[in-house]
Amino acid sequence: MAEFINPTLVPKRKLATGEEIPCIGMGTFGSDRFTPEQVSNAVAGAIRCGYRMFDCAAIYCNEDLIGEVFAAALQEGVVKREELFITSKVWNDMHGKGDVLLSCAKTLRDLKLDYIDAFFVHWPFPNHHAPGCDGDSRNPNSTPFSVDAFMATWRQMEHLHDMGLARHIGMSSMTIPKLEAVLPLCRIKPSLIEMELHPCFQQQALFDYVVAHHIMPIGFCPIGSPTRPDRDMTPDDIADITLPEVVAIAKAHGVHPAVICLKWAVQRGQIPIPFSIHENEYVSNLRCTMVDPLTDAEMKTLKTVERNCRLIKGQVFLWPSATDWHDLWDENGVIVK
Ligand SMILES: NC(=O)c1ccc[n+]([C@@H]2O[C@H](COP(=O)([O-])OP(=O)(O)OC[C@H]3O[C@@H](n4cnc5c(N)ncnc54)[C@H](OP(=O)(O)O)[C@@H]3O)[C@@H](O)[C@H]2O)c1
Repeated sequence: MAEFINPTLVPKRKLATGEEIPCIGMGTFGSDRFTPEQVSNAVAGAIRCGYRMFDCAAIYCNEDLIGEVFAAALQEGVVKREELFITSKVWNDMHGKGDVLLSCAKTLRDLKLDYIDAFFVHWPFPNHHAPGCDGDSRNPNSTPFSVDAFMATWRQMEHLHDMGLARHIGMSSMTIPKLEAVLPLCRIKPSLIEMELHPCFQQQALFDYVVAHHIMPIGFCPIGSPTRPDRDMTPDDIADITLPEVVAIAKAHGVHPAVICLKWAVQRGQIPIPFSIHENEYVSNLRCTMVDPLTDAEMKTLKTVERNCRLIKGQVFLWPSATDWHDLWDENGVIVK
């Protein structure tokens, strides 16, 4: 029997509404490496270990199996629905009129839920790529970001919230210029925003912007995604868990460097959503939020390991006239079209 961590003792984060949610969740993207069965088995184990937040998405192609796990846990009385915070995301090929509603309905059916706690626009581009495609794959119909198109999608997200199907709505992989353009137009503001966050990719300006707008930052790839899909691996990428500073701090605490990345994330203020199918790993990931915090000096050291190393570059979403993946991220402060 795995270690049980009392979820009421796991630190909480407060959303703008005042609602409290766990300071850490579990990711469920199998990264084209782990099967839906492996991922859903890990979710089953994680609920029983005390995880209460799970980050799902339609494109992870495992929501049906994860739904069975949720249904069994609820049925067996392992957890009550209101104790869980379950998120999902509409994929890029479902941004069109009526499609967001269809996508949410399918996710609810697959996850076997009446409502989702937070529903995200997965990417701000309506560009589909097939699961498992390689890094050079391009869709000739891809288009750059458009405020009008994004807001048409967001209106449907607001509608889902109005109908009570999504308790919160959120965005993902946004930039400050895109947020500047769309936030003033939102009738219902995003409660949460997912962004890539790990020690060597801290996105300090975006993080500060989001927090200043009372939006909760959710950090994906919090360990530097060592098992990410091959298409997202490039020779210049830096592995957070091999950085000498991270390794030295891990030694001092007697833990794996992955755990140091998570402690840093929680103490900085984002909600990390680490993935693992291994029980010893997901248990230590949850436990580390409650014990043996990093010192101020260690937090300061970790601030210095920033390398601006974006791992999920998104090149498969590029449109025909785009130069390269940098165009997706508005690095000069204006939306690239
Ligand atoms: N919104 C978005 O667009 C977006 C994009 C990417 C990801 N996400 C979400 O973020 C989640 C997390 O990102 P990710 O899965 O890419 O990367 P990650 O959580 O940074 O890394 C996951 C890998 O780290 C290793 N690991 C985990 N815990 C460990 C521990 N305690 N000790 C040693 N190694 C450990 C595992 O590798 P081994 O199996 O080798 O041990 C695992 O496969 C995803 O699952 C998904 O839910 C969202």
